[in-house]
Amino acid sequence: MPSQYNTTAEERINALRRELERHNRLYYVDNAPEISDFDFDAMMRELQQLEAQYPQYADPNSPTVRVGSDITNEFQSAEHRFPMLSLGNTYSIDELHEFIARVEKEVGQTSYVCELKFDGTAISLTYENGQLRRAVTRGDGTRGDDVTANVRTIRNVPLRLEGSDIPPLFEIRGEILMPYASFDRLNAEREAAGEPLFANPRNAAAGTLKQQSSAVVAKRGLACTLYQLAGDRLPAESHSANMQRAREWGFPVSEHMRICSSREEIDSYIAEWDQKRHALPFPTDGVVIKVDRYADQRALGFTSKAPKWAVAYKFKAEQALTRLLSIDFQVGRTGAVTPVANLEPVLLAGTTVKRATLHNAEQIALLDIRPGDEVYVEKGGEIIPKITGVELSRRPAGSKPFEYAAVCPECGTPLVRYEGEAKHYCPNQSGCRPQILGRIIHFIRRKAMNIDGLGEETVELLFESGLIKDASDLYDLQAQQLAVLPRLGDKSAENIIRSIESSLEVPFHRVLFALGIRFVGETTAKYLAAHFASLDAVMSASPEELTQAEEVGGKIAESIADYFADQNNIRIIERLRRAGVQFTAQERELRSQALAGLSFVISGKFSDHSRDELKELIEAHGGRNLAAVSANVDYLVAGENMGPAKLKKAEKLGVKIISETEFAAMITGAEPAGTPAPEQSDDKPQAAAQQAEQGSLF
Ligand code: IVH
Repeated sequence: MPSQYNTTAEERINALRRELERHNRLYYVDNAPEISDFDFDAMMRELQQLEAQYPQYADPNSPTVRVGSDITNEFQSAEHRFPMLSLGNTYSIDELHEFIARVEKEVGQTSYVCELKFDGTAISLTYENGQLRRAVTRGDGTRGDDVTANVRTIRNVPLRLEGSDIPPLFEIRGEILMPYASFDRLNAEREAAGEPLFANPRNAAAGTLKQQSSAVVAKRGLACTLYQLAGDRLPAESHSANMQRAREWGFPVSEHMRICSSREEIDSYIAEWDQKRHALPFPTDGVVIKVDRYADQRALGFTSKAPKWAVAYKFKAEQALTRLLSIDFQVGRTGAVTPVANLEPVLLAGTTVKRATLHNAEQIALLDIRPGDEVYVEKGGEIIPKITGVELSRRPAGSKPFEYAAVCPECGTPLVRYEGEAKHYCPNQSGCRPQILGRIIHFIRRKAMNIDGLGEETVELLFESGLIKDASDLYDLQAQQLAVLPRLGDKSAENIIRSIESSLEVPFHRVLFALGIRFVGETTAKYLAAHFASLDAVMSASPEELTQAEEVGGKIAESIADYFADQNNIRIIERLRRAGVQFTAQERELRSQALAGLSFVISGKFSDHSRDELKELIEAHGGRNLAAVSANVDYLVAGENMGPAKLKKAEKLGVKIISETEFAAMITGAEPAGTPAPEQSDDKPQAAAQQAEQGSLF
C-alpha cells in the first residue's frame, strides 16, 4: 500500500514540523521548554531522515533548514518596501532631554518606549501569510543583500507564525547578534586554525551573516531580536502594542522594553541598564527611546536620514587611565607576533585589567604609545581590553617613540610582514620554540589527533629533554624513555604510548587539521578531505585545483601550497606516513552484516559505550539508526534513565527492548571483521548545545 504509506509519511512530516515549531517557540520565545534538548534533537533527526526519504514534501520553512546548506549563496540585492533609516544618537543626557522637549512641543505630553540598543547588524524580515519569505540586510537603506538562506538557520527566527491578527504581508526589523558565548567559541576555533580573529561580536555577526555557506552560519550560534514592525495593516496603533502582538505570534521581542511617561522614568531606565547590561549574554551599546503612539510618530515625521520620533542614547565605553609598564611580544604557532601591553593593574567594568592587546605595529605608531606613558584602556564591544589613547600631558620627560621588534623575541630571526597583512611574522617555522611547541600542541588536541595521554606540560617536557623535535617524533617514543622523566611514571608512560598508538586510527580529515596548516581549520580540512580523499592528492594539487574544494579560496590555497613547499614539513609528513597515520579517507566499511535489515533506536545512558559509539556499531554492522520509536523499529536499546513514555510506546508497538549487553551479544563474533568505521564528525551543529547557549536570551 505505497500510497497509503506516503500519506502517513506526509502526515508524520507535518506533525513533526508543527511539534518542532511549537517547541522552538516554547524554548526561545516563552522561555518555558516542555521537552529535553535530547528529545528535541531526536525529533529533528527523525524529520531530517523523513525529508531525505520523501523529497517531494520539501519545504523551505521546515525547521530542518536550521542546519543550513552548503550550496553557495549568491546574494541578490533586494529593495526595502519601507526605507531602513538610521537613528540620531547622543552621548549626553542633556541632549536627550532636548529631544524630549522637542517632541512634547510638537505633540504635547506623550509616552515613550525605552529599549536596549542591541549591538549587532540590522535585518529586515518579510512575512507573507505567516511564513518567512525574505531576510534582507540594511545595505544602503534602500536596497540590501538577500540573506534569507542564512537567516533561516538562526534558531530563534520563527519560520512560521501562530496566532491571530497576523497581517497578510508585513516586515519586522531587528538585529542579528552574536552572543558572547558563541563569539568566544568562534574566536577560539579561529585562533586554533591560525585564522584572523573577529574584533568584536558585532563584526562577527555581520561577517557571519554574509557567509556563503548557510551550514557555516548554522554552526556559529547567531541570535535575533526584533524591535520594529512595518506594514500597511498592523493590528495596533502603538509601537508597544504591536511589539506585544509580535511576541504573541512567536517573534523574539526583548522583555526589557519599558513604557516610560516622563523624563525621570527614561533617565532611570538608562541608569539601570548602564549597570545591568554588563550581565547580559550579548552586547548592547545604549538605549533607544521611541515615541510610542503611531499618531504622534506621524506628526513628528522624519529627516532625510532618521525618524524624529526616536533617538539612541549611547553608553560611553568604560575607560580607565593607567600606566603602561612594558610591551611584550607573543609568538603564536603560525609565527604571528602580537604585541601585548603590561599595565599597572586597574579596575575596569568590574574586572582588574593587567594586560591589553595592542594589535600591531601600525596601531602603536598611530597612537604613539610608549612604555612609561599613562594610557586610556577601554572595554567597548571588545572582550579584550584595548588601549585607545595616551594622556600626553602626563608623558614623562625624555621619552622616545617605541621601536617595534625587528627580530623575533624568541629566536632572534628578523621579522617579516606579508603583503596586505598588518601583523609581523617570525618566518623561522622550524627553529622557533613557541612555533614548534604550538604545532605539536595543536597536533595532539582533542579535535586533531586526540592524544589525550599528553598535555601541554608533558609536550614541553619531551621537547626540553630532546625526545621530540616535531609531531612525527611522537611515534618513535618508547615507554621506558618516558617513565624516567620527572612527574611521569610507568603508568602514565604507558598511557601516553597507548594514546599515541590509537591516534593512528584518527580519520584523515582530522589528520589534515592536525598538521596545522595556516587557515586550514576543522571545517576546511573536512572539505579538503572530502574533495581530494588523500594527502597525496592535496599535496599534488595546484592552487587552482585546491580552490575547487568547498570553502577554499585563494588565500587558503596559497597557504596550503606554502606548507607543502617547505622541506621540513615534507620530512615530517613522510615520517608520519611511515608511522601509519591515516593519509587517505576511509569509506565507511562494513564490519559485518550481522544487523542487516534491522532498525534500532538508542535511548538512555550506557556504561560501556557512548550513544554515538553504539550508533556507529549499528551502522558498521549493517543496521539502521532511527531517531524515534515507531512501528518500523525492531529493537530499542535501553540504557539508564530513559524516558518512561518511550518505553511504554515500544511495549505497545511490540518493539523488542534490549540492554547494552544483549546488543553487544548480537555483534560479537560477527564476521568478517573490517577496518573500524570512522568517527562521527564532531562539528555537526548540535541543537542541544546551541539551544543551551541561546536559550532565554532576551
Ligand atoms: S529602531 C527607524 N531599536 O541601531 C528606527 N534600532 O544606530 C529604526 N538598533 O539601524 C531602528 N537596537 O540597527 C531600533 N532597539 C532598537 C535597536 C536599534 C539596535 C540599531 C539598528 C539601527 C541602529 C541605529
